[in-house]
Amino acid sequence: MKIGDIDLGEGAILAPMAGFTEPGFRAVCARIGAGLTVTEMVSAKGLIHNGEKTLELLHTSQYEKISAVQIFGSDPEVMAQAVQSPYLEKFDIIDINMGCPVNKVVKNGEGSALMKNLPLASKIISAVKAAAQDRPVTVKFRLGWDRDTKNYIDFGKMCQDSGADALTLHARTRADFYSGRAKIEAWEKLKNAVSIPVIANGDIKDKQSYRQAFDWADGVMIGRGALGYPQIFADVLDKSVDLTLMEAVLMHINELLKYFEPERAAINFRKHAHHYLKGVPNSREIKNKINQTDDINQVIELLKSAL
Ligand SMILES: Cc1cc2nc3c(=O)[nH]c(=O)nc-3n(C[C@H](O)[C@H](O)[C@H](O)COP(=O)(O)O)c2cc1C
Repeated sequence: MKIGDIDLGEGAILAPMAGFTEPGFRAVCARIGAGLTVTEMVSAKGLIHNGEKTLELLHTSQYEKISAVQIFGSDPEVMAQAVQSPYLEKFDIIDINMGCPVNKVVKNGEGSALMKNLPLASKIISAVKAAAQDRPVTVKFRLGWDRDTKNYIDFGKMCQDSGADALTLHARTRADFYSGRAKIEAWEKLKNAVSIPVIANGDIKDKQSYRQAFDWADGVMIGRGALGYPQIFADVLDKSVDLTLMEAVLMHINELLKYFEPERAAINFRKHAHHYLKGVPNSREIKNKINQTDDINQVIELLKSAL
């Protein structure tokens, strides 16, 4: 699969997930097979003000083969200015978030609220495309605001006409948030309506759902299926994994420690630890202990005792 001139190989993509897709996790997923990794959503306003918390989200690891930064905002000029930030120079692809459902984002007309304002969404995409110069621009969005206002076909065409190089469709509405089955038949409908690549997203959990998605789309993006199980990228690509789960955890933590102080890393890692321990019998006590410590070595020992 190609986005602009960038060849993504087999097209297995790690989804942006706020609070989870920090450089440690992205490194592990890339090492195991993800051809493209995406930062979590980064505020365009935060970027132009060089906000410390915003800049922290922009670390990338040496393992990431092709990396995208995802930005969000509702002001075309601010979005364009953000793209020109020197901190974004290292990213191969600029992705625009037009799918985030959370209230504090949509109340500012950002994220999935832009699916209700096509003229503004179009201005944002054109402005970002002009600012990105030769770098490809992608847009991630949903089926629409709610069941009665599904407009992903018109929205996708608008994105294409405004200069987008590829589209990612999370096959749920804003009203669905993350619940209910993803309406996967939408990927094919969108693909038939546009000539740029379509990336399928929503409920890809295993090799079967991954392979099936390629019947309808050009690339496939995996989110929650990778949490606690980065090996999913080897599974779906039919590759053997040369890392045990514990080795993947250690790599994840070691990468994280390159960017964060050990205490911060221990705290940030807690939610990942819960995912890595998913399905491990009697892990409640270990999870509780991990929640209470900011000593990363203790976190490692606790995980070693369980995995
Ligand atoms: C905890 C969490 C955080 C997320 N953060 C983002 C984000 O920053 N940007 C974005 O476009 N989507 C975000 N998403 C949505 C995912 O990228 C993806 O579209 C969604 O989870 C559906 O894919 P899945 O079924 O493979 O998880 C987030 C999802 C989760 C669960």
